[in-house]
Amino acid sequence: NTKVPLQRGRSLMDWIRLSKSGVDLRGTGSKPLQISMEELKKHDKPNDAWIAIRGYVFNITRYIEYHPGGESELMRGAGKDATSLFEEVHRWVNFESMLKSTFIGTLIQELPSRTIKKTPSSLTVPVGNLARTSNMISQFRNVLQLFQTDFRQNEDTICLHVDIVSITSNLSYTINLLHQVENTISVEKNQSIEIILKKSKRGLNWDNFGFLMQNRSFQTKFRPCTLVSKSNVTHDTLLLHFRFPDSTHMIPPIGAHVFFQTNVDGVVIRRPYTVAMPSITDGGYKIDSKNFYAVIKVYSTGALSNVFVNLNPGSEIPVGTYEMKFHLEMISSFKQVFMLAAGTGFTPMIRILHHCLFKTDKKVKLGLFNKQQRDILWKNDFETL
Ligand SMILES: Cc1cc2nc3c(=O)[nH]c(=O)nc-3n(C[C@H](O)[C@H](O)[C@H](O)COP(=O)(O)OP(=O)(O)OC[C@H]3O[C@@H](n4cnc5c(N)ncnc54)[C@H](O)[C@@H]3O)c2cc1C
Ligand code: HEM
Repeated sequence: NTKVPLQRGRSLMDWIRLSKSGVDLRGTGSKPLQISMEELKKHDKPNDAWIAIRGYVFNITRYIEYHPGGESELMRGAGKDATSLFEEVHRWVNFESMLKSTFIGTLIQELPSRTIKKTPSSLTVPVGNLARTSNMISQFRNVLQLFQTDFRQNEDTICLHVDIVSITSNLSYTINLLHQVENTISVEKNQSIEIILKKSKRGLNWDNFGFLMQNRSFQTKFRPCTLVSKSNVTHDTLLLHFRFPDSTHMIPPIGAHVFFQTNVDGVVIRRPYTVAMPSITDGGYKIDSKNFYAVIKVYSTGALSNVFVNLNPGSEIPVGTYEMKFHLEMISSFKQVFMLAAGTGFTPMIRILHHCLFKTDKKVKLGLFNKQQRDILWKNDFETL
């Protein structure tokens, strides 16, 4: 996925201005409608585009020019229930708030047809449903989530143990399995939940079960985090040190990003930022459970990045639980790591680079692309490495 260049005057701030201007962006009057699938399908053209996400229907015709992912990407969801597509691409985007002025009504829900994958390589565990059958677990519903997964195997099967300490209701987790399994799944519930899967390739020894992914719909809890200090890494990029509130202890793993949230003229904006570190040359740096760092580039018209310019030490900002797509295990077997980054696209690599250099004997190469010399993050530090 990549962003496409937007026309001038089509930034998020411009969109917020347009949506607050009183211009009619719905084209259907202000009374919310009940919209059938048949009706929705008719609005699939750039000059007349509706989209349904999580049961809400919006007229996105005017938003197309403002969509950072471009027209053709957004049009993939036009005239459709685009919930899965939206969640696949950027489920954190706060569409309800951003598209409020284009809200037309609700989609009349039709029963989904069931599709069964022949050889699934991923599996969704409906923890909420399992939990409902257990008194012990249901006491803890709506509290916190904590999940531990382990596995054992024999020639034929993989057995996943899922320990739930406490969970949020209707939570579902996706396990991206390391190898293919057959479509025969059995679930047993003793002390922990056991999910037994049949290996597609009998006798294949699995090094691990794969990765546990978070549930796909966005349910992150936002906590007020305090800015401890702020300094410049380059002329337009800040190093920010935050502290979690007293009740929170969190150690975002390497590769994780957190979500910052702000309110711009009544529109809630949420953006992901990688958890970084204060320096790439300090081999002794170890992340702790109370503090985290972010390296953030400020765009002159940036809706969220600009908030950090005016945020002073001691002030708070809501931060959502971390998520990650990258897992360190993905590179564990490599002896050499070659990373390519452009601009602040380097931020996800900061902790990977640090880990490889100071905690492993891997060889690391980094190709860093910048518009100007002065844009290079930690230029002097790189020279001393
Ligand atoms: C997983 C992940 C991790 C990230 N980690 C970091 C990080 O560590 N540090 C960091 O600085 N950023 C990071 N980002 C980017 C960050 O989430 C924001 O996208 C970025 O800060 C811009 O947000 P904004 O609200 O300030 O900008 P916006 O208001 O969206 O726009 C910023 C500027 O870019 C222009 N613009 C926006 N989209 C386009 C486009 N398609 N074409 C042309 N111009 C455009 C706008 O006009 C404006 O001038 C990460 C993104 C992801 C997905
Ligand atoms: C359902 C169809 C959609 C598709 C296929 C799609 C696709 C994309 C893609 C490919 C990107 C670029 C991601 C990247 O930088 O890697 C993007 C960004 C973005 N899209 Fe969409 N999009 C869709 C719907 C929407 C809708 C309805 C909104 C309404 C608010 C929206 C808002 C955004 C925003 C705000 C970004 C920038 C995200 C960020 O940088 O944090 N998109 N989209």
